[in-house]
Amino acid sequence: MTPTLTSTTSTTAATGPRLVEPRGTLSAAVAEALRSNDTPAYRPGAVLTADPWGEDLQLALYLLYELHYRGFEGVDDDREWDPELLRLRQAMESRFLHALSTELSDVPRSVEEAFAPLLVEPLDPAGGLSRHLERKGELWQLREYAALRSLYHLKEADPHAWVIPRLRGRAKAAMAAIEYDEFGAGHPDRIHAQLFADLMVDLGLDPAYGRYLDQAPAPLLATVNLMSLFGLHRSHRGLLVGHFACVEVTSSPGSRRLAKAMRRCGAGPAAERFYDEHVEADAVHEQVVRREVIGGLLADEPSLEADIAFGCAATVHLEDRLAEHIGAAWADGRSALRTPLNTRDS
Ligand SMILES: [Fe+2]
Ligand SMILES: [Fe+2]
Repeated sequence: MTPTLTSTTSTTAATGPRLVEPRGTLSAAVAEALRSNDTPAYRPGAVLTADPWGEDLQLALYLLYELHYRGFEGVDDDREWDPELLRLRQAMESRFLHALSTELSDVPRSVEEAFAPLLVEPLDPAGGLSRHLERKGELWQLREYAALRSLYHLKEADPHAWVIPRLRGRAKAAMAAIEYDEFGAGHPDRIHAQLFADLMVDLGLDPAYGRYLDQAPAPLLATVNLMSLFGLHRSHRGLLVGHFACVEVTSSPGSRRLAKAMRRCGAGPAAERFYDEHVEADAVHEQVVRREVIGGLLADEPSLEADIAFGCAATVHLEDRLAEHIGAAWADGRSALRTPLNTRDS
């Protein structure tokens, strides 16, 4: 029987995140193209001269990637596969990847070397940020941290799900098992993204998807763009697995510190629960991802070892850059957001 389409015309998200203000010529070209349903107007040279770490390029990439998640209010869903937008995205991705490989030219090429430092408990992959929050973080800093991280945690595990069709056997089964937990193991109220939304409510933040995009600086956007970039390309499956493994391996100790910070500041039960849940779950995920996902993928495709190692190193590098940004702002008593939160957020 031939399936019947409910509509042959394209659909447009009626609700969802709103497009945000551009931060330069590239993000203006993307935002305007999405708003007007037209092709993006930019000089090709603009990508070549853009700062790969800057606000403009990182926001432009973020807007384009978001078309593969939930899109934007009033933007045609079919823009996800618009060849002109994809061409621009590809040019910016090359710039981003080139900058990454330049900064990480000396990284280990073996999985063992890449992960060894992360398995030592005292190492804080986020440049000491969770240690700071655990010991002397203040409530306003926890709120800023959560508002920033919401750009990922409200779609937690989504970019990693894209790798599943690209794996087989042990790696696929293990990846799906971990993702099953991340997506609530059959319970919508236990989806990790939902647990994070509950945490945000405890902290007096607005849990609407994409709510803090406008306030998120480039170093945060880069951390989310990295996983979208790795997740959307089959050719980057090794990088994506390296990224995922890095997150799982470092999550448990970091979450323990953040759970303590939430408790010490009296953030609330849902705020504690999100991190408590990750202390336990990720201790298990760490084992499964190392043994089965990485082990299974390497058994199938040994040539991906350097990619897995690079994916891990790139994740640590971007977390360090973000921690540096946040740490510098807080050390000066400034907000780490582009504009500070209001008292009860919103
Ligand atoms: Fe999770
Ligand atoms: Fe996990």
